[in-house]
Amino acid sequence: MIKKIYTTNLKPGMYVIESGLSKNDNPHIYSKEGEIENTSQIQDIISAGYLDVFIDSNKGSYFKSNPSEKVPIIEEYETLSVSKHKIESGGRSFDSMGAHIEEAELVYKNSLDYVKDLVDSLKFKKKIDFSKSEECINDIFSHINNNIDSLLFISKLKKHDTYTYTHNLNVSIFSIAFASAIGLGEDNIKIIGLSGLFHDIGKLYINEDILNKPDKLTAKEFEEIKKHPTLGFNILQKDKNAATEVCKAAHEHHEKHSGGGYPQSISYKKISTYASLISIIDVFDALTSNRSYKRKIDLHKALGIIFNLKGTSFYPALVDKFIKFLGIYPVGSIVLLSSGEKAIVTEQNSANLLRPKIRIVMDKNNHYQKVIDLDLVNERTEGADKLDISECLSPENCRINISDFLR
Ligand SMILES: [Fe+2]
Repeated sequence: MIKKIYTTNLKPGMYVIESGLSKNDNPHIYSKEGEIENTSQIQDIISAGYLDVFIDSNKGSYFKSNPSEKVPIIEEYETLSVSKHKIESGGRSFDSMGAHIEEAELVYKNSLDYVKDLVDSLKFKKKIDFSKSEECINDIFSHINNNIDSLLFISKLKKHDTYTYTHNLNVSIFSIAFASAIGLGEDNIKIIGLSGLFHDIGKLYINEDILNKPDKLTAKEFEEIKKHPTLGFNILQKDKNAATEVCKAAHEHHEKHSGGGYPQSISYKKISTYASLISIIDVFDALTSNRSYKRKIDLHKALGIIFNLKGTSFYPALVDKFIKFLGIYPVGSIVLLSSGEKAIVTEQNSANLLRPKIRIVMDKNNHYQKVIDLDLVNERTEGADKLDISECLSPENCRINISDFLR
C-alpha cells in the first residue's frame, strides 16, 4: 500500500518511493527511492524543506518490525498514480479570470455574509454550526476548482468591510487556492479552508481597543494579544465537530519555523503543516490589507517580506511554493515598465517569473492608449530598447481600474 505522509512522521526502516512528480512542480515532496537509514537522514530531509513523502508499507523493515503501527496518513493509494493538479501556473491568465468574475463576486459576498454571522454569533459564545462552515468552504472550493484567480482577485480588491470579517475569509480563500495548487487532495484542502476560517477566532475575545491600537503596543497589551491562539484552540477543541488539524492551526499559526513564536515557542519539528501554511497566508493577507493603523502594501512587496522571513518565521519549501503560486508579479498587478508605460500582468511565465505576459494600458505620459499585449520573455533585456518591469504600482495611485481591462 502506498501512503503519503508528512516527512515529520518518517521513521528509520520506512521505504520511500519515487513520486514520479517533477521536482519543479512538487519541490515539497521527498522522492529519493530507498529505505530510510537513520534519524539523522530524516532530520536532513526535513531541514531541506521537504514536507511530504510517499512510502510503500509493503517494503522496508519498519512495518515488518511494527506491523500494527498506525502512521498519520495524508492520502493512501493501492498504487501510485498521482497526477499533477490542474491548477499550476499554466493556463491561469487575466483573461480566463474575466469569465468568472461575476460568479466570484457572488461567492465572495455570500461567504462574507456567512463569516459575519459566524463572528457575531461567536462573540455571544454561541455554538459553531460546522455544517454551515462546510457549506461555505464547499462553495469556495468549487469556484476555485473552476478558476483559481478570480476569487483571489476579488478578495484583494475589496476595500470596504471590517478587517475581522475579510481577514478570516481571505485567509481561507488563499489557503484553499494554495493547497489546491500544491496538489493536496480535496478533503485536505477543505480542512485547510476551515483552518483559515477559524485560525483567528480567539481574537474575538481580545479587547478591540488593543487589537486596533494605532500606536505601538505596550508589553502588557502584547501579552493580551498573545493569548488569542490558545483562546481559539480552547473554543475549537471543546467542539467535537472541529477537526484536530483545524484546532492545531488556530493554536500554532503564530509559531515560527525556527522557534520563538507564540504561545508555545515550538519549532518546525512540532508545528503542524497546515499551521505552517496558514501562518504564511495570515501574514500575507495582513500586509496586503488596510488596517485602522496602517496602509496596505502591494502584493509584490508583501511577497518580498515573506521571502526574507523564509527559514526563520516560515517553512522554506512552502514559501518558495507560495511565491511560485502567486508569481513575483501576481496576475492582475499593475507594473511600471522601463519605457515609462504602465501595464497589467496578464499571465505568469513559470520558467521566468520576472518576465510575465503583460497588457500595456497607459503610455509614458499617463494617457490611456490602445491596449497592447506583450510577452516580456520575447522582449529585449539589454540595450536602449530593452523592456523591463521597473516597479509594481498601487491601482489607487495610478488611476487604473483593473476590471476595465478584463476581456
Ligand atoms: Fe492570529
